[in-house]
Amino acid sequence: MLGRMNILCRKSFLHLCRQLAVADGYGANSLNMSRDPLHVKMSGSEFPLILGRDVSGTVMECGLNVKYFKPGDQVWAAVPPWKQGSFAEFVVASANEVSLKPKSLSHAEAASLPYVALTAWTALVNSCGLSKEKCPGKRVLIIGSSGGVGTAAIQLLKSWGAHVTAVCSGNAFTVMKDLGADDIIDYTVASLQDQLKTKDPFDAILDNVGGTSEELALQYLKPWSGATFVTLVTPFLYNNDRLGIADGMMRTGVTLVSKVMKHYCKGIHYRWGFFAPSGPFLDEIGELVDAGKIRPVIEDVLQFSDVRKAFQKLEAGHARGKTVIQVVDPKK
Ligand SMILES: NC(=O)c1ccc[n+]([C@@H]2O[C@H](COP(=O)([O-])OP(=O)(O)OC[C@H]3O[C@@H](n4cnc5c(N)ncnc54)[C@H](OP(=O)(O)O)[C@@H]3O)[C@@H](O)[C@H]2O)c1
Repeated sequence: MLGRMNILCRKSFLHLCRQLAVADGYGANSLNMSRDPLHVKMSGSEFPLILGRDVSGTVMECGLNVKYFKPGDQVWAAVPPWKQGSFAEFVVASANEVSLKPKSLSHAEAASLPYVALTAWTALVNSCGLSKEKCPGKRVLIIGSSGGVGTAAIQLLKSWGAHVTAVCSGNAFTVMKDLGADDIIDYTVASLQDQLKTKDPFDAILDNVGGTSEELALQYLKPWSGATFVTLVTPFLYNNDRLGIADGMMRTGVTLVSKVMKHYCKGIHYRWGFFAPSGPFLDEIGELVDAGKIRPVIEDVLQFSDVRKAFQKLEAGHARGKTVIQVVDPKK
């Protein structure tokens, strides 16, 4: 039975994201705390666990309090990781996670965007304080610009008038140029540090790679000017998996506070970014899509029977945008 604010969608397409790690158990301790208690109680565990976050399809049924959507609407959404996912023909989402699909996109195209665009949006808007009004004249560096989040972030920033420097490997240069990147750095030909030294300092950095790139890139922000570094690669779920919730949260808190304080003393804001589901933000992203300012970057569209192949492809890395799975034939 549907909750009052829930919507049941029949899906045409979905795309793959951080599902490889989740399939390996990544985040289980934290996500199980927030999972639907009925689901966990009925099966005694989180299994069977449905992976997949993105939805693009047709509304089949609406809960009693859902006013904004009706059966037959064409919608897109990204469902949060503590809910059952979208590798299925039907998915239940809350009304505030859903948005009307941009008219200019097919379902295959629409399925490639919500999760990565919302992740880029929350990192840039909520963590860096960037927006249409604040971006003109700002210099932003994106490390790991050729994957799902990076390609969405470049387009959001360009649509708001920022100057974007993209860090990727050489064979992604054409895609980066097509998306509007102003400056491109190939991290495979020379050290990133040597190449960043030749650039003017940045107002914001979005780090999609983590590891050594964090300490290195932080030096290239403009200190004492409100400059912000945001990374999507955080130890939050990993610490909870490894140490349990209480110790994991403690370790995470200590790490975050010490990094924030250390960089604050040098005049830099240090932040962690997280995906957050949001129908209203998707409405705004959808407007940019229909205005031709954001387009999907799709590497491959595979059939539902080829999910295993899609996972193997993801495991190989070097994504150039997104891989989409066709769940049902949209013509049927
Ligand atoms: N915190 C959150 O809520 C959240 C949400 C979504 C994603 N994430 C994280 O954010 C990161 C990016 O996600 P995604 O979906 O965009 O991943 P993705 O699609 O796999 O893209 C990663 C990209 O980074 C490139 N890359 C790898 N090493 C690099 C380096 N040293 N310098 C520059 N580029 C490099 C890869 O291409 P090449 O190897 O060919 O260069 C690939 O194009 C992942 O670590 C993911 O786990 C976090």
